[in-house]
Amino acid sequence: MANLRTVLAGLELVNPILSASGTFGHGVEMRHMVPPGSLGAWVSKTVTLSPRGGNPMPRIHETEAGFLNSIGLENRGLDAYLADTLPEAAATHAVLITNIGGHTEEEFAVAAARLDERDEVAAIEVNLSCPNVDGGKLPYSTDPATAERVMAGVRAATSKPILAKLSPNVTRIDEIAVACAAGGADGLTVMNTVLGMGVDWRRARPRLATVVGGYSGIAVKPIALRCCWQVRQAVEIPIVGCGGIASAEDVLEFLAVGCTAVQVGTSNFSDPARLARLGDEVSALLDAEGLAGVDAVRDRLHHQLAAVHKA
Ligand SMILES: Cc1cc2nc3c(=O)[nH]c(=O)nc-3n(C[C@H](O)[C@H](O)[C@H](O)COP(=O)(O)O)c2cc1C
Repeated sequence: MANLRTVLAGLELVNPILSASGTFGHGVEMRHMVPPGSLGAWVSKTVTLSPRGGNPMPRIHETEAGFLNSIGLENRGLDAYLADTLPEAAATHAVLITNIGGHTEEEFAVAAARLDERDEVAAIEVNLSCPNVDGGKLPYSTDPATAERVMAGVRAATSKPILAKLSPNVTRIDEIAVACAAGGADGLTVMNTVLGMGVDWRRARPRLATVVGGYSGIAVKPIALRCCWQVRQAVEIPIVGCGGIASAEDVLEFLAVGCTAVQVGTSNFSDPARLARLGDEVSALLDAEGLAGVDAVRDRLHHQLAAVHKA
């Protein structure tokens, strides 16, 4: 069997397949369907310092292809996460990556400092898509200088590996990637949801109470691949590809553009147990191609793509 072992920002993972934040509970809720050992790591739902009730309903809508959501980072807050969720999740021996959000730059740093004290947390993923109440309504993910400051604050607060989660809703995602790396990110998760909207013309109503929300699922895969590819050209740090991944073929496509690992999100809603099978399916595809492991596929195909890019 092909070797799926992967090192991501210093973390040793059994395979490069992770759950995407907010689509898999905190991981622990899904353990009966997806054994912890079948995944490289669990990524928690976004945790914020204070509890959040989230946005008004309706806040999720299934489109012809994928979801529109505006959950609004509903969560019980960091205290409850540290007291209840983290010990329960750690008891499964899964590798745990905690995704954090904040509404000021300081909130990100405070959350990171508190997670830094906990051995159960292997790494921190910083969700930069939260609205920036410090300096306006735009999310932290859209301005390079702001993104860099958030990452620098988190960097100063923890010695754990930190991943910056980028948004595709920008003109130059490579500039945000460079800024996050300069701020001290050890890796980048690319990408969060694409801004979208749905309407029910018969009832003359938007599909989401917030009108505009985040679009995800198989239809966004080409956008995510493009973002990963552009980011790969701009920075050296590892990339975790995310967006529309639903099969082993999809996983290998993201490795081919230079990702070190991937996250699976919306597809968990249609077949939650699929995540548990993906590793073996990736192995079988690598075996069929005579490739020894995931590093081989990344190096071989990434170099070929780079040559096409330069030609
Ligand atoms: C219902 C739902 C909730 C989500 N919640 C979060 C969240 O709390 N934090 C976060 O960083 N991303 C969140 N996301 C974004 C996903 O983690 C992922 O980046 C995005 O959906 C693209 O991947 P996919 O096409 O595989 O779903 C959420 C996505 C969905 C569909």
